[in-house]
Amino acid sequence: MPSVYFSSKPSAMGFSLLSRSFFLILFHFHSTLSSSAPPPLCAHHQSLSLLQFKQSFSIQTIPREYLPSFHIIQYPKTESWKEGTDCCFWDGVTCDLPTGLVTGLHLSSSMLHGTLHSNNSLFSLHHLRKLDLSFNNFTTSHISSRFGQFSNLTHLNLSSSSFTGQVPSEISHLSKLVSLDLSWNGYQDLQLISFDKIVRNLTKLRELDLSSVDMSLVVPGSLMNLSSSLSSLRLDDCGMRGKLPSSMGKLKHLRYLDLGGNFLSAEPVSLYKIVQNLTKLRELALDSIDMSLVAPNSLTNLSSSLSSISLSGCGLQGKFPGNIFHLQNLEALSLSYNEGLTGSFPSSNLSNVLSDLDLSNTRISLYLENDLISSLKSLRVMCLRNISIIRSDLALLGNLTNLMSLVLSNNNLNGQIPSSLGNLVQLSSLDLSDNNFSGQIPSSLGNLVQLFSLDLSNNNLSGQIPSSLGNLTQLTVLVLSNNNLIGHIPSSLGNLIQLSTLHLMNNNFSGQIPSSLFALPSLIYLDLHSNNLRGNISEFKHDSLRYLDLSNNNLHGTIPSSIFKQQILAVLNLASNSKLTGEISSSICKLKNLLVLNLSNNSLSGSTPPCLGNFSNLLYVLHLGMNNLQGTMPSTFSKDNGLKYLNLGENKLEGKISPSIINCTVLEFLDLGNNKIEDTFPYFLGTLAELQILVLKSNKLQGFVNGSAAYDSAFSKLQIFDISNNNFSGPLPTRYFNGLQAMMASDHNMIYMRTTNYFEFVYSIQMTWKSVEIEFDKIRSTIRILDLSDNSFTGEIPKVIGKLKALQQLNLSHNSLTGHIQSSLGNLTNLESLDLSSNSLTGRIPTQLGGLTFLGTLNLSHNQLEGPIPGGMQFSTFNATSFEGNLRLCGFPVLKKCYRDGDPEQSLPPSYNEGEDSTLFGDGFGWKAVAMGYGCGFVIGVAMGYIVFRTKKPAWFRRMVEDTWNINKKKTRKKVGRRK
Ligand SMILES: *[C@@H]1O[C@H](CO)[C@@H](O)[C@H](O)[C@H]1NC(C)=O
Ligand SMILES: *[C@@H]1O[C@H](CO)[C@@H](O)[C@H](O)[C@H]1NC(C)=O
Ligand SMILES: *[C@@H]1O[C@H](CO)[C@@H](O)[C@H](O)[C@H]1NC(C)=O
Repeated sequence: MPSVYFSSKPSAMGFSLLSRSFFLILFHFHSTLSSSAPPPLCAHHQSLSLLQFKQSFSIQTIPREYLPSFHIIQYPKTESWKEGTDCCFWDGVTCDLPTGLVTGLHLSSSMLHGTLHSNNSLFSLHHLRKLDLSFNNFTTSHISSRFGQFSNLTHLNLSSSSFTGQVPSEISHLSKLVSLDLSWNGYQDLQLISFDKIVRNLTKLRELDLSSVDMSLVVPGSLMNLSSSLSSLRLDDCGMRGKLPSSMGKLKHLRYLDLGGNFLSAEPVSLYKIVQNLTKLRELALDSIDMSLVAPNSLTNLSSSLSSISLSGCGLQGKFPGNIFHLQNLEALSLSYNEGLTGSFPSSNLSNVLSDLDLSNTRISLYLENDLISSLKSLRVMCLRNISIIRSDLALLGNLTNLMSLVLSNNNLNGQIPSSLGNLVQLSSLDLSDNNFSGQIPSSLGNLVQLFSLDLSNNNLSGQIPSSLGNLTQLTVLVLSNNNLIGHIPSSLGNLIQLSTLHLMNNNFSGQIPSSLFALPSLIYLDLHSNNLRGNISEFKHDSLRYLDLSNNNLHGTIPSSIFKQQILAVLNLASNSKLTGEISSSICKLKNLLVLNLSNNSLSGSTPPCLGNFSNLLYVLHLGMNNLQGTMPSTFSKDNGLKYLNLGENKLEGKISPSIINCTVLEFLDLGNNKIEDTFPYFLGTLAELQILVLKSNKLQGFVNGSAAYDSAFSKLQIFDISNNNFSGPLPTRYFNGLQAMMASDHNMIYMRTTNYFEFVYSIQMTWKSVEIEFDKIRSTIRILDLSDNSFTGEIPKVIGKLKALQQLNLSHNSLTGHIQSSLGNLTNLESLDLSSNSLTGRIPTQLGGLTFLGTLNLSHNQLEGPIPGGMQFSTFNATSFEGNLRLCGFPVLKKCYRDGDPEQSLPPSYNEGEDSTLFGDGFGWKAVAMGYGCGFVIGVAMGYIVFRTKKPAWFRRMVEDTWNINKKKTRKKVGRRK
């Protein structure tokens, strides 16, 4: 029986890029030995070296989403290596026939996992000529300098194998190298310093791929030292800076050139020289190179041999040259992300081999009509995201039956999704997201059995998910979020055993989550939030989850214990199901990779697992608020923990505030409000330098709140300080007020408070805003609130409060404050809400308060204030309730007239005779002013958006979705012009 091995073709040794991703890598059978010749015995020591090599790695698949193509087949070749058999017959091994020496190792995609040390037996295989270790996981190994000892090596491929560190200069000893590929070992995790040395010695080099190797220290000019016989040069995303050297034109034999993703700029003259001299060029990729000085029509003399042109994101401006499309060999063209590129796409005379077309994010217009469709018959990839105009009969697309990828997102397309798309049975990827498609999802999409990605999100689709989608057994990514889909989630989705991402959030799905979803073996991202799903959460049958969001539904029952087995789980969000009951098992602390844990707004009871404070330093969001948790808060927070958001508010927690919380040195948000905590003021929180929000309201805290000299810079970043409804006593904490730097300076950044870690988490909070308790779904970074109400503070309002100029809400009500209202409050020009009610304040209302133009809510009631209510636009908008219970106040809007000297008529009790109202407008205010004043305060309060109610698509989801596909999407964009 002849021995066979799998090997990728030499031409496919480079990193498999996404355009190619839609094609199976061509494997070809290659017979190493003729079946008639007697098999020569493989030298024993080589056998041994190979077996030791095999033993030094475990077998582990690379998750599909890390691969540039979902079609790369991983296969453990070394499994067939058995002692006592001839190693020349082993998978992936080739021998030199007469000598039996091992000369080739072809172990691409062989699931090798582990470190490749310098003492690995691999390095005793001195006779190697070809070595391919691509698409394995050498777990951040360094490339050993011993690679330089393979003196006869002609082909070396270490791409996509998680190598890191510096490329050893010993690679320059490999003077016989014809092909070198070190590409895509992480994004610039490999660094190349000795480029000059390497290129000078490698004079035989024909193919060089260093894509994503960090070459930031290499000057572009040194590219001209490359061997002039070079035919393929790929230096994509290498971090090179400077000008594209015109001397590149010397590499006359170049057929493939990719310098995309570098910080290079092209001057018209040098680009012209390159274009003119490289007459053999078949592929040209200069994506993201700055060509803003280049007139697009100077690209007309591109070599007619070109089959692929990729100029994505080059800043090209102006009318693009229509004759590019008349290059008769053109197979792939990407002009995407040149927002300044205009023109209309020709409908005839197109290259009849054109198969990849990406015009996304340009202003090129394209008219889908019969002529065009017949000229595009051979198209396999069509990316038309965010094109200015598509005047179209979309149903015609159903004729492009060779299409493998169709992207029409973000085009304002409306009407129904044409059911003719169901004819495109070759499709791997279909993206119709961000349009206005309405009606039902055509069930014909169930014919697209090759699909691995389907994105119909952000449309107005209605009706049910057709059960035919259950036929799409190759589907890895299914995104139907942000539509109006109804009905049950079909249990046939459980047939999609490749599914890694399922996003159905923000629809109206009802009924139970089908149990088949919980059995999906490869599910990584499951997001069903904001639907009307009911019933229990079933047990997950597998442990592949990284992201689980079932929040905002009506789920009930307990948290299934299988969730605690999801070792890679990073985000667990079961918030706002209100009916989740039972205890939080301490097994949750087994989830060492958890970043976000949100179980808020449920009916969880029992105690908080003590381990939650110290089970992982990765956790940055812990939100257990709005439950029925009892006992104490976690008492031990580990050193160097990463918590930024900690919310245990609205539970029944007792005991004290754990001092070890000071280990949460990056904490920005702390809400322990609405519990039964019995303690004094936790001064130690003053050491948390990043703290922006502190809510301790409605507990049983007591004693004085005076800052001590030890924490002079305490709370300098605090934007919300809410200790209302406790039993604090003594004077107001003047020392703290002096240090509230953030409340002294307005922030004009209109962003939401959030963590910017890998999964963005937008902060939410429940609080009293203008006297109403509101759940803030998002919090503007501009917010500034000080609330010390409902305590037993005594003494005067300190003058220093006037320094907190950025305050929007100040509440000192329901205390025992005495003395006058400080006129310095008139400095708080950003104030929208001021409540000093139910104290024992005396004297007049300072006229300065009349200048607070944003003030929309004012409550000075139930004090002992006296004299006239000041004028001013804003004051005239408040009604009498703002002032009631101050018997000695007079003037509008209370009904007591002021005497000339400003004192109220002593003898009369307050009158509620409405007939008198109009007379009170006498002193300077008309109805118009009143209406405007009110309108202004109101409009600003809302328009500034401190309160943002639940919106249909929280931004962080869009971000998250993009993050998920970041790598692949970026490559789709950039690489689509690539063809091998
Ligand atoms: C490689 O293995 C390491 C360690 O097991 C793992 O963290 C990493 O995610 C793996 N990388 C890929 C691309 O599979
Ligand atoms: C390298 O190749 C040459 C010529 O084929 C051969 O003589 C020599 O033995 C080879 N060296 C090794 C270490 O295989
Ligand atoms: C060039 O290659 C030869 C082997 O062919 C080696 O002896 C020499 O050291 C190399 N030069 C550099 C600068 O690496």
